[in-house]
Amino acid sequence: MKIQIINGPNLNLLGVREPDIYGSISFEDYFQRLISLYPAVEIDYFQSNAEGEIIDKLHETGFSCDGIILNAGAYTHTSLAIHDAIKSIATPVIEVHLSNIHSRESFRHQSMIAAACKGVVAGFGMDSYRLAVEALKSA
Ligand code: DQA
Repeated sequence: MKIQIINGPNLNLLGVREPDIYGSISFEDYFQRLISLYPAVEIDYFQSNAEGEIIDKLHETGFSCDGIILNAGAYTHTSLAIHDAIKSIATPVIEVHLSNIHSRESFRHQSMIAAACKGVVAGFGMDSYRLAVEALKSA
């Protein structure tokens, strides 16, 4: 099984950025833990702050891997282009957030991408990514 993780804008600063909300571990450190939990699953990680690069990665991996875990960061709330990219590919996409976007500011309550995704995991910190892997494994 092959899973692609795609992290969007500002998620390169996990561990440093607003640690009270997003925790104090870098994604790179968490990723090492995650891959060690699933030795039989090939999990790749990509991060970009650029909307077009996220779309290019969805296109590149969206016909070959078994699942995509996407934390689109703030593009979640704005990007019709990412919604369309998810609709354009064959691989199921799970929308992931560290925080519970529904318990935060009202501008985070709407997701432009959720309707195009297979499901959504939000509010469990870094563990949201592991829960998404579990969802893809049992799909
Ligand atoms: C986030 C939630 C978004 O609202 C925010 O813009 C982020 C991170 C999360 O993982 O909780 O950058 O996607």
